[in-house]
Amino acid sequence: MSLIDKARAAQATAYAPYSKYHVGCALETNSGEVFTGCNIENASYGATLCAERVALFKAVSEGHRNFRRILIATDASTPAPPCGLCRQALSEFCTPDLEIILCGANDTQRRFLFSDLFPHPFDQSSLV
Ligand code: THU
Repeated sequence: MSLIDKARAAQATAYAPYSKYHVGCALETNSGEVFTGCNIENASYGATLCAERVALFKAVSEGHRNFRRILIATDASTPAPPCGLCRQALSEFCTPDLEIILCGANDTQRRFLFSDLFPHPFDQSSLV
């Protein structure tokens, strides 16, 4: 199954009764494994998790910390980039050359490097 098909399958499992905005994500490790995620909303709103962090945390919790591609699928007419929280969470494990593929309605695509979307992360060096 292609990365887009995996992300679309994850999108179909999104739990988004409040926003009705369904997101699916497929995160590929450097060795080719793919972890998927969907957004999972909560009545408190604040406890909602984005698809990207679900995929990332699934991967990290299974021992994977090196990633080469992430594909994010929505039905938006302009494919939407990951939110700031997800960019910060990804920055902990990703290199600047992580490929970000945004996929919207009709599989319209936009491609970026992680460094395009998040050039100045707060990282370990910020803590000293
Ligand atoms: N959402 C994501 O899953 N990823 C993003 O990068 C942006 C937002 C989800 C959170 C919420 O369930 C819905 O989209 C609307 O914000």
